[in-house]
Amino acid sequence: MTTALCPGSYDPPTNGHIDVIRRAAAIFDRVLVSVVENPSKSPLFTTTERIELFRASLADVSNVEYTVFSGLLVDHVADQGIDVVVKGLRTSSDFDYELQMAQMNASLRGMETVFIPTSPVWSFVSSTLVREVARLGGSVEELVPAPVAAALKEKLS
Ligand code: PNS
Repeated sequence: MTTALCPGSYDPPTNGHIDVIRRAAAIFDRVLVSVVENPSKSPLFTTTERIELFRASLADVSNVEYTVFSGLLVDHVADQGIDVVVKGLRTSSDFDYELQMAQMNASLRGMETVFIPTSPVWSFVSSTLVREVARLGGSVEELVPAPVAAALKEKLS
């Protein structure tokens, strides 16, 4: 039984995140989506809200579970008995940053990282841009799952 961990801020989850998690769930026996709790940031959605948004958006996928972590990813991975960490890659700049983190995590605790290329239709989508567009009154309905679009509307109204 191989468990993959998909860590991230996910503030909020986007169609790009959902795409990568669905594909990871098709490859690995179990996927644990882990939302980072970062005390130095003030997120739009709480970690509980972000997990609820995932549950509503991935209700049809049976082998995905959710948790929250803080501190070093490598320690969380060791605590949870994870085999591999999965990261989505949108662009070559993602790759440069993710490669550095993967090598650091491998050197810290031998953590393995596997990259899944994001579908090109979502390569321009980020949570940061989604929040900005939504805040300024633009439409994000094509970029995020319907429960996330509804939650953004409610949160920003
Ligand atoms: O969605 P994000 O913001 O790109 O997610 C980044 C995340 C949470 C995966 C990354 O910041 C992380 O691993 N944070 C935990 C702290 C840590 O382990 N830092 C050292 C990384 S080499």
